Amino acid sequence: MADAPHGAVELGDLSDLGDGEMRCFEDIGPDGIVVCRVGGALFALADNCSHADTPLSGGRLRGYGLTCPLHGTSFDVRDGTHSGPPAWEGVPCHRVTESDGVAVVVMASTDDDRPSDGGRLQTR
Ligand code: FES
Repeated sequence: MADAPHGAVELGDLSDLGDGEMRCFEDIGPDGIVVCRVGGALFALADNCSHADTPLSGGRLRGYGLTCPLHGTSFDVRDGTHSGPPAWEGVPCHRVTESDGVAVVVMASTDDDRPSDGGRLQTR
């Protein structure tokens, strides 16, 4: 796994990750990331629930919703927003690209790259 400029990190070949499946990468970012495939596309969230520091990779993926295994808040894998309490905010969401059999995650800054509408802090 090689680091690239601008926060891009190669994840390798994820063609074996089926629709509705997820895989965690513990060594990427401060909390690791969980990569999910939904509708053929890849999405990545920080692998840490914003409520009580629980790995989301232990939860359940249904559609675009990844449900925390501890208290059940659901996070949208497309943007990290959360469904509501007990979590008070969403989780960092990172863009994933896939080209020539190689998946790459571009790590979003937790401070400067948030959408202007509040991004991950939104509740659905
Ligand atoms: S630890 Fe995830 S909802 Fe409480």
